[in-house]
Amino acid sequence: MRKILLAVLACISLSASFGASISGPVVDDPRDNSLPVHLDPHQVVGYESCEKCHAAEIRVWKQTPHHSTFKTLHRNPAARKIASAMGIDSFKEDSECIKCHYTMKHTDHGLSAISGISCESCHGAARDWINVHNDYGGEHVTRLTESTEHRIQRLRNSIAGGMRNPVNVYLVARSCYRCHTVPSEKLVNVGGHNAGSLDFELVSWSQGMIRHNFVRSDGQTNDPSDRGRLRVMFVAGMIADLEFSVRASASATAKGTTFSDTSYERAKRAVKRVLAVRKKIGSPILDEVIEAIQGIRLGPTHREALLEAADAISAAGVKFAATVTPEQLEAIDGFIPPESKWR
Ligand code: HEC
Ligand code: HEC
Ligand code: HEC
Ligand code: HEC
Repeated sequence: MRKILLAVLACISLSASFGASISGPVVDDPRDNSLPVHLDPHQVVGYESCEKCHAAEIRVWKQTPHHSTFKTLHRNPAARKIASAMGIDSFKEDSECIKCHYTMKHTDHGLSAISGISCESCHGAARDWINVHNDYGGEHVTRLTESTEHRIQRLRNSIAGGMRNPVNVYLVARSCYRCHTVPSEKLVNVGGHNAGSLDFELVSWSQGMIRHNFVRSDGQTNDPSDRGRLRVMFVAGMIADLEFSVRASASATAKGTTFSDTSYERAKRAVKRVLAVRKKIGSPILDEVIEAIQGIRLGPTHREALLEAADAISAAGVKFAATVTPEQLEAIDGFIPPESKWR
């Protein structure tokens, strides 16, 4: 896994809406552990640390279920039912639920749940990148006067520090799918938790209530991403859907259960979608994605092969987001969900 990502990040570049496409060697994200959905609580700083510069983003986030689940989950009768089936007493302590519903931080008193799903749940635990990602390289240098070389180095350093920087949209897409495929067999089969958000799609789920595009407009507006970026997001989301439904399939230990049936169906559907996109645009990287899964069977005895395929898909996804240009994706505009479908 690590080896593949390293090779891929070697050609990371900036996607079009962030400026010209630039390539160059980049360091691997050393803390990008695939599954389950963890942030290292020792690296978590908490959303308050972002507030002085990202107050607008925090205001948006506070209106979403990602934030409110902190207050609502333990009172929700459906949650109590799941917890009791799983033998869980405390939601916010060492339970299965903390992986996806809370942000855990290590404090002097040990581990504690400090919020719901927070900035760092999607962008990576920030201790080692918070002071790196915004450092333009001098007191008088601004976003506009920073040199290109410095900018590339800054983005690289932030990713090396564990940031899932949206400059490569696949890095953030992976965060979403890690949770929204609910890759936990026991939680689904024993707990009766839903088997993920089956209609999850990156454009429609990221451009509605959770949208917080303030930096690129100097804090003034919160416009949706432009058409070019939406194209890249759409395809990156399809690839991530495949990666994580294959991962979920790999963790099924028995056939014929809700968990395995849903995971297998989702994986098959994701393959079809990637094929449909490939038919429209023809891309060597999508060929790699399809090759990765070709000939591999779904089933509890194929765990290793499935995990290997997921790693290869992941690598291709990062490479895709780093190198594709929006113009190459024009033919898929008809697939992208219109604004009326955004959540
Ligand atoms: C001292 C100010 C400051 C703090 C604190 C801060 N940021 Fe930022 N952040 C910035 C600036 C400035 C940018 C724009 C960087 C650029 O121009 O690329 C930025 C950009 C970002 C981006 C977009 C990626 C990028 O590089 O453009 C993300 C995501 C982000 N910040 C997340 C966070 C999170 C999460 C926290 C808290 C853990 C945080 N930031 C704390 C100033 C800050
Ligand atoms: C792997 C990630 C993951 C884990 C672990 C997880 N959940 Fe969830 N949970 C989700 C996601 C994603 C949703 C939203 C699904 C959707 O409806 O689209 C959700 C939704 C829910 C809902 C429905 C919320 C509502 O307001 O309708 C309940 C209840 C719930 N989870 C309870 C639990 C409990 C209790 C635990 C621990 C035993 C738990 N979850 C563990 C990912 C997870
Ligand atoms: C750490 C786990 C986690 C991550 C990461 C995550 N989500 Fe979620 N998301 C959840 C859970 C859990 C819920 C349901 C919370 C509840 O209702 O209590 C949810 C709910 C949502 C909802 C609200 C759905 C509705 O209609 O009520 C949207 C939209 C959403 N997520 C989009 C995203 C997107 C887009 C990403 C990635 C950029 C993402 N999520 C990343 C766990 C996560
Ligand atoms: C559910 C996952 C999720 C959460 C939670 C989240 N982000 Fe983001 N963030 C994203 C995604 C996805 C993008 C890229 C969106 C796009 O390009 O349309 C993004 C983009 C950004 C950007 C760059 C946007 C721009 O204007 O260029 C900043 C800054 C940022 N996030 C900061 C934060 C901060 C601060 C928090 C906490 C309040 C936060 N994010 C919480 C998923 C998330």
